Amino acid sequence: QTTTPIHLDAPLLNHSNIPSEFVWPDNEKPCLQPPSLKIPPIDMKSFLSRDPQAVEAICAEVSEACKKHGFFLVVNHGVDKKLLERAHKLIDTFFCMELPEKQQLQRKLGEHCGYANSFIGRFSSKLPWKETLSFHYSNDKSTRTVEDYFLTSMGEDYREFGSMFQEYCEVMSKLSLEIMELLGMSLGVSRECFRDFFEDNESVMRLNYYPPCLKPELALGTGPHCDPTSLTVLHQDQVEGLQVFVDGRWYSVAPKEDAFVVNIGDTFMALSNGIFKSCLHRAVVNNQVVRKSLAFFLCPNKDKVVSTPKELVTAENPKKYPDFTWRTLLEFTQKHYRSDEETLDAFS
Ligand code: SIN
Ligand code: FE2
Repeated sequence: QTTTPIHLDAPLLNHSNIPSEFVWPDNEKPCLQPPSLKIPPIDMKSFLSRDPQAVEAICAEVSEACKKHGFFLVVNHGVDKKLLERAHKLIDTFFCMELPEKQQLQRKLGEHCGYANSFIGRFSSKLPWKETLSFHYSNDKSTRTVEDYFLTSMGEDYREFGSMFQEYCEVMSKLSLEIMELLGMSLGVSRECFRDFFEDNESVMRLNYYPPCLKPELALGTGPHCDPTSLTVLHQDQVEGLQVFVDGRWYSVAPKEDAFVVNIGDTFMALSNGIFKSCLHRAVVNNQVVRKSLAFFLCPNKDKVVSTPKELVTAENPKKYPDFTWRTLLEFTQKHYRSDEETLDAFS
């Protein structure tokens, strides 16, 4: 392994090329202006009203999107706009800090949480053009996982940061549980089925920061992957970048103010007996502005057995996945990525 440092920031932007470690092979290079994917905006307020007609229409839309590619938007979700603004502001504050300060939270190899970047050169290829900060969230109401993490690892100065993201994760967990009711009804099982399963979720939050890249046509912010988690609730800023692979080609998911992008992960695909899909996606970069996104990855409690509800196993659609725990899948995924590309991990 080489130890040559690579700096993504200022000096690099003055060069006419990017380091070869960031250049993707020709057959994986991004298309920067693909068509937009048409995904339904799901009105959560209307779903939660329990009006039978509205619920039926919404479930039909969700079911259609999830059987095809697993992506939809949620609007009228009740998340305070000010909370989102504060979160985006704190992301800027964090990533604009000097490297040594950010590295106080440096993520260690094999771990899921902490600060990560591709600044440190290694004998690797297809490096992602981004910086990330990830942390655990537990929906056990007696703990304040996020706040404690920042206080313990960064000290008193990070109290505001920690309590803001604690609140953000609580709100995301609540929204995810409502979406679980929606997915349960769209699959024709009970409203409570998946909601109850994820009530004690042990989830992960990731802040993505994609600096401008001089050669966006050669690099990728996040390489193509499917999320192994259950559900991803993503807030992207107004800068386009998220792309989804549907029917043999890439589509962009256009930013929409006040909407969250929701997608099904592998674990929920297994819970649904393969009826709802976990779909390949990636993030491209641009040469103009920073792009930011906040991803909440809903995960089951680690030792709970993930098992398809019996109503979804039929003669026409026999059981497709063995029962497993999230802990085992996570360990397996981590091992797999580590032997392939060090900078990727289970949540990328
Ligand atoms: C995004 O930044 O839009 C998504 C990144 C991911 O899927 O990990
Ligand atoms: Fe993803």
